[in-house]
Amino acid sequence: MNLSRFRCSLLLVAAAAAQEKEYKPKEEKLPGPPIAQPIAYSHKTHVAMGMKCTNCHTMPGDGFAATFPKETMCMGCHTTVKKESPEIQKLAAFAAKKEPVPWVRIYRVPDIVWFNHALHTKKNDCATCHGEVAQRPVLFQEKSTSMNTCMACHAEAGAPNGCDVCHASQ
Ligand code: HEC
Ligand code: HEC
Ligand code: HEC
Ligand code: HEC
Ligand code: HEC
Repeated sequence: MNLSRFRCSLLLVAAAAAQEKEYKPKEEKLPGPPIAQPIAYSHKTHVAMGMKCTNCHTMPGDGFAATFPKETMCMGCHTTVKKESPEIQKLAAFAAKKEPVPWVRIYRVPDIVWFNHALHTKKNDCATCHGEVAQRPVLFQEKSTSMNTCMACHAEAGAPNGCDVCHASQ
């Protein structure tokens, strides 16, 4: 089955519904609180070792998702590095069970919104929308994902701002 087409028809229905309602600005308190993750992974430590954002967050296929790295990828180093650490033992247990670590999500837009990562990283750094991730031992929401924030940048960048651009196109 063509999953993207399925998602597309769902979105069209949802989008038609969204546009009948009036938009109520989303409440966001920024910066958000630090998010406790199931494993104490630090962006600061790993980026300082020279790892690139897109080594771990690939944007496959149509480029919509930024994705999370596979546990086998982490274990490429951690089979030997710090293997006695309790945090690494938790990681190794997920890898052995072939289960993804249940990372707690930080940035999220509702399903009625079209947001394509690959398209947006052509002209913007990750930091524009996610803040100084490379400096953070623990992540928290630093930047807004509200409709007004999307539209403000679109207006400034000359990108389209009709309702169907984000809620029903493609
Ligand atoms: C290129 C090798 C490499 C990869 C890939 C890698 N790490 Fe690491 N990681 C390290 C090194 C080296 C350290 C130790 C840094 C230090 O303490 O100076 C470390 C430290 C850690 C620690 C802290 C352990 C402790 O108790 O001090 C955690 C947790 C961790 N990594 C999780 C992960 C996770 C989760 C992934 C995959 C998303 C991952 N790592 C991928 C090399 C790697
Ligand atoms: C070694 C792999 C690795 C590297 C390199 C890496 N990340 Fe991550 N990233 C992760 C893991 C694991 C998580 C989930 C745990 C967390 O939120 O800290 C994550 C979470 C995130 C999130 C939160 C996603 C959400 O909504 O929950 C953002 C944003 C992010 N990374 C951006 C970046 C940026 C920007 C860079 C480069 C500066 C980067 N990452 C480099 C592994 C990596
Ligand atoms: C124009 C703003 C923007 C830019 C630039 C951007 N992101 Fe995102 N990111 C978002 C939004 C919005 C979400 C929530 C997407 C959703 O819920 O579908 C998100 C979600 C994520 C997630 C969670 C997984 C997902 O796809 O939902 C990760 C990981 C992530 N971003 C990493 C990155 C990395 C790495 C870069 C740079 C290579 C980057 N982002 C650039 C806005 C951006
Ligand atoms: C920092 C600036 C910036 C932010 C923030 C941003 N965008 Fe964009 N967006 C752009 C630019 C620039 C383009 C045009 C990209 C191109 O054509 O290369 C674009 C294009 C798009 C498109 C495709 C438009 C078309 O041509 O059909 C969609 C859909 C979209 N953005 C949705 C979103 C959503 C949803 C958000 C908020 C969650 C968002 N954008 C936040 C800059 C931004
Ligand atoms: C550039 C992208 C973009 C454009 C253009 C846009 N929206 Fe949105 N819209 C979003 C994002 C992102 C959200 C979710 C975050 C929020 O609620 O602020 C959203 C949320 C909504 C919601 C709330 C839906 C829900 O159930 O949470 C409604 C209603 C809505 N938009 C209607 C509209 C209308 C009407 C227009 C045209 C005037 C429009 N949008 C144009 C990005 C956009």
